[in-house]
Amino acid sequence: MIAIACDHGGYDLKKALCDWMDSRGMPYENLGTDSGDSVDYPEYAHRLAAGIADGTYEKGILVCGTGLGMSMAANRHPGVRAALCSESFSAAMSRRHNDANVLCIGGRVTGPEVAFEILEIFLGTPFDGDRHARRISKIEID
Ligand code: RB5
Repeated sequence: MIAIACDHGGYDLKKALCDWMDSRGMPYENLGTDSGDSVDYPEYAHRLAAGIADGTYEKGILVCGTGLGMSMAANRHPGVRAALCSESFSAAMSRRHNDANVLCIGGRVTGPEVAFEILEIFLGTPFDGDRHARRISKIEID
C-alpha cells in the first residue's frame, strides 16, 4: 500500500496527486492534512515514515512547501530512504540506485504536471540491486 501525507504548504499538490492516482484506480492511504490550515510538517512526516519503518506501507509520498522538512524528518526513521525530487531523472535514480521508499516533493517548487511524471517514474522504476544494495546497507548508522 502507498501512503501520502502533506502539510499546508503541500496541500494543493497532494490533492492533485490524489486526483491523479484516483483517475488511475491506484489505491493509497491519505494520512492528512486535509486543508490549507497551518500544521507542523514533522507530525505528518513521522506518521508516514513510522508506517514505512514498521512495514504497514511499501512506499510513501510526502509533500510540503519545499519537500525539505518532510525529507529531513522522514529520514530519521530506520529503513526509510526519502528522496526529494523536482525532476524525473532524480526520481528514476532514487529508485534504481537508492531504493528510495519515500518520495518528497515541494508543492511550492514543482508544478502538478512535473509532479505527476515524477510520481509515475518513482512508482514504476525497480531497484537495480547488486552493488547498490551493498551501498544502501552502509547508509544506516548505530
Ligand atoms: C511551511 O511554511 C513550510 O516551512 C513547509 O511546508 C516546508 O516547506 C518545510 O520544509
